[in-house]
Parts: sequence; structure tokens; C-alpha cells
Amino acid sequence: DWTMAAYRETKVAQIREQVGDGKVICGLSGGVDSSVAAILIHEAIGDQLTCVFVDHGLLRLNEREQVESLFRDHYNIPLVVVDAEDRFMAGLAGETDPEKKRKFIGGEFIAVFEEEAARIGGADFLAQGTLYPDVIESVSFTGGPSVTIKSHHNVGGLPERMNMQLVEPLRELFKDEVRELGRELGLNDLFVGRHPFPGPGLAIRIPGEVTKERCDILRKADAIYLDEIRKAGLYDAIWQAFAVLLPVKTVGVMGDYRTYDNVCGLRAVTSTDGMTADVYPFDAHFLTGCATRIVNEVQGINRVVYDYTSKPPGTIEWE
Ligand code: XMP
Repeated sequence: DWTMAAYRETKVAQIREQVGDGKVICGLSGGVDSSVAAILIHEAIGDQLTCVFVDHGLLRLNEREQVESLFRDHYNIPLVVVDAEDRFMAGLAGETDPEKKRKFIGGEFIAVFEEEAARIGGADFLAQGTLYPDVIESVSFTGGPSVTIKSHHNVGGLPERMNMQLVEPLRELFKDEVRELGRELGLNDLFVGRHPFPGPGLAIRIPGEVTKERCDILRKADAIYLDEIRKAGLYDAIWQAFAVLLPVKTVGVMGDYRTYDNVCGLRAVTSTDGMTADVYPFDAHFLTGCATRIVNEVQGINRVVYDYTSKPPGTIEWE
């Protein structure tokens, strides 16, 4: 596409001019936005860019490995992967309040990021994959004009604290344009078409206390659900689909045995911007297939329910 090719050229020149021979650090989330921003910046300034990926233990199955292979092996971009699972799990232990979970994760993320920036000798610029909708909705992303529905996890506040300037090459773009730019930069359709994933990760899909064990259970269920969605050819018709692990145990029966295990919720919505959302109308056959596989293959889950709530009044995530 000639427009995106032109955009790419313009941005590369702008980034070079802004950064000069300074150092840039970029936090990768594994999502499309930060990835596209990093690849574009790397094209402009090469190894003046260092990417940092914080593995907080709240990622989806194989997500960290995918980021490592894409950035290190495929694009040859300097990448620091921080294994921070233990400290995140320790901080989340015993916490059940959704806002406190969010605030802890956001704060801890910044702490880890600052430590890594210091370790590489600091940086002059912080790169972010901020999009146009983030710019206009930064006052209130999820709800009414003055009420905080959820504290969003981002690195706002970080640049001032670390005395860095921002590099935000995607600020004029909408999500679909970022995907197009990603393709222009050589990312494959599978990657650019990925559903959005929230900064606090699986923690906000595990109402109640988050533990490594519960994250492991949820990761397995989520992977099966997404596998079924991909096999049915439905992935691209859905804005976001994911499993949640409920803090509720129910009785079931497996063969001749009574089970007493966790409930898994499935969610899938269509949306254009995440502000409002409609429930994706799977047929019953598809959902029973997912439920059967999850209960059979995931130890720790013996019941599956589907979330039929649109946004509003529900939010997309459960916390
Ligand atoms: P809600 O649950 O508020 O989510 O309806 C709307 C969209 O935002 C994503 N989301 C987040 N993204 N940091 C993010 O980067 C966050 O803290 C966060 N919380 C929710 C959510 O996945 C959905 O796409």
C-alpha cells in the first residue's frame, strides 16, 4: 500500500531527527502496537534501541517465547527479557481487590522497567505504541466522564520520573492502520491480527486471588478456547476472546468419581474500539465443543459457562 509505505518513510526520517544519536528504550507488551512501534524505531535508529519485555507471569501460553523469537531471531532487535514472575506473584498474594491488583501491577511494572533501564545505562527516550484513540480517550477510557471504572495499566508517569522524552510514532493512527503498517514492516497476518491483551494480563481474568497455579490453569483453558476459535475460522470476526477463571468451585462427575473444581468462563465480543462491545453469537455446538475439551484437558476445571453480557453494562474484562 503506497500510503503506508510513505508513512513509514516519513516516520523513519522523523524518528532519526528526534532521536539523533540518543538511546531509546521501549517496553514491549507482546501486543501489536508496541511491536510495530519498536520495529519502526529499529528501522530508523538500529541498535540505539533496546526493547524490554517484562514477563510478569500473567502472560498467555507461549507468549514470551513468541516475542523472543520474533524480536531476537527474526528482526535482530536487542531485547532484554526480565523474568519477574516471582515478584509479581509475591505482591499479588492474598490480594482480591480488583483496583489494588491493577495498581500493584502497574506500579511494579514501572519499578522493573526502571531497574532495567538503569542496568543498560539509562536512555534518553522512551518509546510507546500510543495510538490516536489512546490520545483522545486518555481522560476516561472505559466509562463515564468523571468516574474511574478501572485504573488502566500503562507507562504514563514514567517519562517524567525517568526524565526521558517520548517517542510515539503511532500517535496519528487507528488500530486498523497500525495493523496495515505492521504488514508493511513485514509482520505476518497472524501477528498483526492478534486480539488486544490488557497490560495487567491474566490477573484481571482471575477474579479473587491470583496465584501461579491459577494462572497455569487459566493459560491452558484459554489456549484451548483460542485454538477452537482459530480452527473454526472465527478469530478475525472477533475483537477479543478469552477465558476467565472464577473463584468458585462446583461439584461435577468424571467417570465414577465426584469432582469439586473451578468454574471457567468464556468471553467473546465484537467491537470497533473497545468502548462498547457486543457478545459474539457462537452457535451452541461450538460452545459445547469448547466446554468438553476444556473440562477433559484441563485439570482444575470441571464446569464452563459463557458470558452473555454486552458492554455496557458489562466491561470486556472481568475486573
Ligand atoms: P474493559 O474491560 O474496560 O476493556 O471494557 C476495554 C479494552 O481495554 C483493554 N484493557 C486494558 N488495556 N491496560 C491495557 O492496555 C489495561 O489496564 C486494560 N484494561 C482493559 C481490554 O482488554 C479491552 O480491550
